[in-house]
Formats: sequence, C-alpha cells, structure tokens
Amino acid sequence: AQTTVPITMRADGPKTLISKDIYGQFAEHLGRCIYGGFWAEPGLSVPQQGRIRLDVVEALRKIHVPNLRWPGGCFADTYHWHDGVGPAAQRPKMLNLWWGNTLEDNSFGTHEFLELCGLLGTEPYLAANVGSGTVQEMAGWMEYLNSDEDTPLVRERRQNGHPAPYKVAMWGIGNESWGCGGNMTPEYYADVYKRYATFAHDYPGTPLKRIVSGANADDVHWTETCMKNIGPGRMWGLTLHYYTLPTGDWSHKGPATGFDEAQYFNTLRNCLKMEAIVARHSAIMDRYDPEKKVALLVDEWGVWTDVEPGTNPGFLYQQNSLRDALVAGTTLNIFNNHADRVRGANLAQAVNVLQALVLTDKEKMLLTPTYHVFDLYQVHQDATLLPLQFSSPDYVLNGEKIPALNASASRDKNGLVHISLVNLDPSHAFQLETALPGVSWKTVTGRVLTSAKVSDYNTFDKPGNIQPAAFTGAKKRGDKLAVELPAKSVLVLEVR
Ligand code: AHR
Repeated sequence: AQTTVPITMRADGPKTLISKDIYGQFAEHLGRCIYGGFWAEPGLSVPQQGRIRLDVVEALRKIHVPNLRWPGGCFADTYHWHDGVGPAAQRPKMLNLWWGNTLEDNSFGTHEFLELCGLLGTEPYLAANVGSGTVQEMAGWMEYLNSDEDTPLVRERRQNGHPAPYKVAMWGIGNESWGCGGNMTPEYYADVYKRYATFAHDYPGTPLKRIVSGANADDVHWTETCMKNIGPGRMWGLTLHYYTLPTGDWSHKGPATGFDEAQYFNTLRNCLKMEAIVARHSAIMDRYDPEKKVALLVDEWGVWTDVEPGTNPGFLYQQNSLRDALVAGTTLNIFNNHADRVRGANLAQAVNVLQALVLTDKEKMLLTPTYHVFDLYQVHQDATLLPLQFSSPDYVLNGEKIPALNASASRDKNGLVHISLVNLDPSHAFQLETALPGVSWKTVTGRVLTSAKVSDYNTFDKPGNIQPAAFTGAKKRGDKLAVELPAKSVLVLEVR
C-alpha cells in the first residue's frame, strides 16, 4: 500500500515574495557556453542576430530568465573589459587561462552581451575583475556603461554604437575571492571590497546593487567576516557558491549518465545539503542584518560531474539526466522556502557547461531535463510564498535515508496557487493529501516531469525523451487536494 502524506498549506502567514532572481542563469567564457553556445561558430547555419544564436535565445525567452551573470566565474578575474569593445577585428586576443588555455578573441564583449540580454529580456549581472584588475578599470567600465556625460569613455561607447547609457545595476565585486579570484583571506577581501565599492559610483537613474563575493559552501567564517567588517550598509547582496558533486570528491566526481542507484542516492544527499548551508549563512546574516535588507545570492549552484568522455576536461561539458531535474527541483524548492533571505541564484551554467539548460552540437540544440524544471517553476517568479508543513517519508538505500519528498508553494499576482513537488524515491509513489485553509478553489491541473530511469537523458537524436506531460493524478477530495505523486518525478500543480 502507498504511504499517505498529509500536507498543510499556510496561507495566513507573513507575506514573503519569491524573488524572480532566484531563477537567474550564468554564462561564463568557459568551454562552449559563449563560443559555440550563445555565440555561433562562423558559418553555422542557424538563425542569428550578429552571431547570437536565436534558437538558443528563443528557448531561454520561454522560461523568462530574470538575470544573466557574466563574464564569469573564474574568468571574470582575468577579464579586461576594454579588450572586448570596439571593432571586433581590432580587439586584442588573450589566453583563457582557467578554462582550457583557449585563445579568447574577445569577439563576444560587453556590447554583444548586453545585446543578448536585450534579446532575452533579462537583467545583466556583471562580475568585475578584482583579482587581476584595478579599481580604475572597474570604475571605467561602470562609467562606460552607465554615464551620460561628455567623458572620453562615454564618447567611446557612443562611437561603438550605443548612445544611451546601458544602466547596468547588478555588479559582483570579484568572484570566489577565496580561490580563483585571488586566494584572499576574508579579512583581506573585506578591505579590498570596501576600496572597490567606494569607487563603484551610482550614475543618475542607476543606483548600483553592489554584491560581495561570498563564501564557498559551508565556510561561515567568510560570511561572518564580510558581514562584520564590511557591514550590511555597504552591500546590496552577498553571494554563496555550492555545487552538488555525485561522489563529493573533486578528483573523481562521478559520471553524468550511466550511474547506479548508490551514486544517485549520494548525489541527492549532497544536493539536500543546500538546505543546511543556506540556513547557516542566513542565521549569521540575521545577526548583522536582522531586517534582512541584504540579499543572499547563491550565484553558482548545480550538479558538477566528470566531463563527458573524450571532451576537453577544461570545458566542463556534461550530459543532463532526470537526476539533474530532481536536483534542480529540490534546490529551487529550498530557495523558494528561504525566500526571505535568498533573493537571487544562478544555475551554473546556461549552455553546454555543467548543469546546462541547453546543449548544442553544431546546428543541433536540445533542452535538458533541467530546462524543463525551470519552465515548470517559472510560475513561482515574484509570487508570494505559501509555506507547507509536512513530514516527508524516507527514501532508504543500504540502511541510509534521505527525505523522499520536498515541496514549495506560492500564490501569483492573479491569485493562482502553484505547488511544486519533488519525489526523489526512484521506486515508490506517494499519496498526498493537502489541506489548503484560506484558499478557495475548484479545479487543479498540473504538469509532470519523469522518465523510466533516473539516468535517462535527452540526446540530439531524441531531444524529446524527457519532457513535461499533462498530469491527471490530482483531484479535489472533499476540501482536500489529493495527489498521487509518481516515483522520481517533479510535479507542478496549479490550483484555481
Ligand atoms: O562554474 C564554473 C566555475 O566554478 C566558476 O568559474 C567558478 O566561479 C567556480 O569555481
């Protein structure tokens, strides 16, 4: 017999908005994310604007990407923005030292990125070079983009084809400054941040969102030091990076496909650590910022596996299975439920890198199971969180257990209630019985993402292997919502 799980929705609590920015994406100059991803190889026969791939743009427009982080990642702390503006043929080349030592020709620079953002309808989120750049260089980039005065940099922007200021507000001050961004101590970085932030000017109409380069995983000392030494008044946001490694071991992360159930279980257990990590950093931020003015931005997250056999190890190209979709659904539920503090996140990365939304192979393109989760969950963007109370059944393997079920819910501007449910158990369905006090409703519809095996994935020959399907297993029973949640599935219900 199936386990029945009672769930209660709280519609009467404090109003917390799920920031749309939790659904942000990340595009680094890494492998084939930009070159061969967003930016078509010369001669490719796909619809393009300039060299921006419009098939990729069209797919991402459908999921309403709220912000796009660029140019890195580790690359950001090696990037000199001025090399990427002006006539493309005159732009200097550089070596991409972090990612495969490839020759970066700077053909995709600031104007091209902002054109991409315009096509996507997304807010740009830039990462300034703190590790190997200068304060002057960063301040110049801001002036070039945001000022409308008659300065040499503004004149240059106009000459380069953009008369009006771009008004870029979101700025990361460095990236992973504890690692590839300069191997700094938090005490040292806090001083460096203050120096950079002092010269990060607001231009008329563009108050900046200054973002502190935050901690790695559970490094709470980093967060504590930044909150204490910088102070909440000098930052709009503070970041956090946490990746889900199937094995937890950076030297052998485990494959993206063809894994067994033990590897699957371990991946989900590592993914679920995000809950405690976010809670610990939030608790520290609460001590220095009890009014929760500063946003916690998990601006790098996702599954990081071994690269696909035969591909460049520096390109971080991996396939994306139903397991990735379950990780995405679970992680986004965690962020939604922590929306009082988590007000931004960026999946790593949008195209062809790590837990990508889109994979390309020359002219071909496919949408990964992770893409479909972002499609299903977009209903939560800027909706009001409706907390859920329940006790999850266990998913048990070899005597170890993790919670099988996770969920989040929200009410959108039109009054529609959406519930996103994830069942991590690969073999057991669950009966859910949800009480929705305070919600008057008549009908329920839904879409579900699942497949025969958790290791199934979409291929260029069969790109539709895994895609959402209409869900018919939810009904009104008395005043309760009764749902038969399939094994290994992500389900989003709409109650109206
Ligand atoms: O997303 C890949 C890399 O992971 C980023 O460049 C870096 O910030 C992190 O270590």
